[in-house]
Amino acid sequence: MSAAFALRGLTAAVPGDKGPVRLVEDVSLEVDAGETLAVVGESGSGKTVTFTSALGLLPRPGRVIAGEAMLDGVDLLKLPAEDLRCMRGARIGMVFQDPLTGLNPVFRIGDQIAEVLRAHQPVSRRAARDRAVELLRRVQIPDPARRIDDYPHQFSGGMRQRVLIAMAIALGPRVLIADEPTTALDVTVQAQVLDLLGDLRRADGMAMVLITHDLGVVARQADRVAVMYAGRVVETGTVEQVFRAPRHPYTVALFRSMPDLDAPAGSMLAPIAGSPPDPARRPAGCAFAPRCLVADDLMACRSETPRLRGAPHAAACHRLDEREPTA
Ligand SMILES: Nc1ncnc2c1ncn2[C@@H]1O[C@H](COP(=O)(O)OP(=O)(O)O)[C@@H](O)[C@H]1O
Ligand SMILES: [Mg+2]
Repeated sequence: MSAAFALRGLTAAVPGDKGPVRLVEDVSLEVDAGETLAVVGESGSGKTVTFTSALGLLPRPGRVIAGEAMLDGVDLLKLPAEDLRCMRGARIGMVFQDPLTGLNPVFRIGDQIAEVLRAHQPVSRRAARDRAVELLRRVQIPDPARRIDDYPHQFSGGMRQRVLIAMAIALGPRVLIADEPTTALDVTVQAQVLDLLGDLRRADGMAMVLITHDLGVVARQADRVAVMYAGRVVETGTVEQVFRAPRHPYTVALFRSMPDLDAPAGSMLAPIAGSPPDPARRPAGCAFAPRCLVADDLMACRSETPRLRGAPHAAACHRLDEREPTA
C-alpha cells in the first residue's frame, strides 16, 4: 500500500550567513487517493514552502537539501526539470490563495483554459474549446458557453477561483494541492468554493492537500490533518483524533487561538503568547519550547529536537508519554 502522494524527510533551505537556513525540515506527509489531508499552522510555519519545494517551485536560491516527494512511486525531486514541469500540469493540480495572480488579464478565460489543455495534449482548437466549456460547467460557472469569451476582470473573485480550479483539474490530476484557496474571498463565497473542491475530489478520486488556517474548514473537509510549527510537522492524525485529543502543546494552543466555524460569535480566543521563531534563529531543542506551557529542562525540551512518534496519531513532544493516556 503506498499513498498517491508522499513527502519523506523533505528539507529545504536558503543560504545564510552561517550556512544553510532550513525553512522546512524533515517533513513527512502522505495523502491517499480520494482523501483530503489538511495542513495547518500559523503563518510562517512552512506550509507553502513544503509544497513549493516538493514541486520544484521554491524560488532560488532556496533548494531542497534532503528528502523525497513521491507521486505514484516516482520521486519528483529526481526528475529532470522539463519532466517535472509536465507532471505539475498534468498529474498535480495546484490552486493558490490569490485568484488574480493565476490568470492573465489580457486573455479570454476560454483561451487560458484551452492553453492548459493544448500544452499537454494534442487537441484541436475546437476540441479544446469544448473541453473548456465542459470544465467551466464542472466548476459550476453559470452559462459557461457564453462566459468562456469573457476576460478575468469580468469575473468576481470567487468565479476567478473557480476558473483556476477548472485549470487545475483540466488534465485529471492525481493530486490537487490547494494553498489557502479561499483566503482572499468573501466569507460567503469561501464555503461554496470549498464545497466545490470537496465535490471534485470525491467525483474524481483525487488526493487533496488543503492548506488552511481555518480549523472549521479542517473539521468539515479533511480526513486527516498535519500540524506544522517552525518548519516541522509536530502532529498528525485523523481529524477526529487531533480534534478530540490534541497531543502536542502547540496544537492545543492553536485550537484555543483560532476561531472555529461552529463557535458562537464573540467566544473567547486565547492568542498564543510570543511568536514563531525566525528560521535563522530557531532555538535549540524543541522550537516550540519558548512558548510552551509544559516545556521542562529535565525533559530535553531545550536541548533535543523531539521526533514524531505514536503513529497513527503522532506528535513531536518530549512530554508526550507523561500526558498519556488522557487521549
Ligand atoms: N524564498 C524564501 N526565502 C527565504 N525565506 C523564505 C522564503 N519563503 C519563505 N521563507 C520563510 O520560510 C518560512 C516558512 O514560510 P511559508 O512556508 O511561506 O509559511 P506558511 O505558508 O506556513 O505561512 C517563513 O519563516 C518565511 O519567512
Ligand atoms: Mg503559505
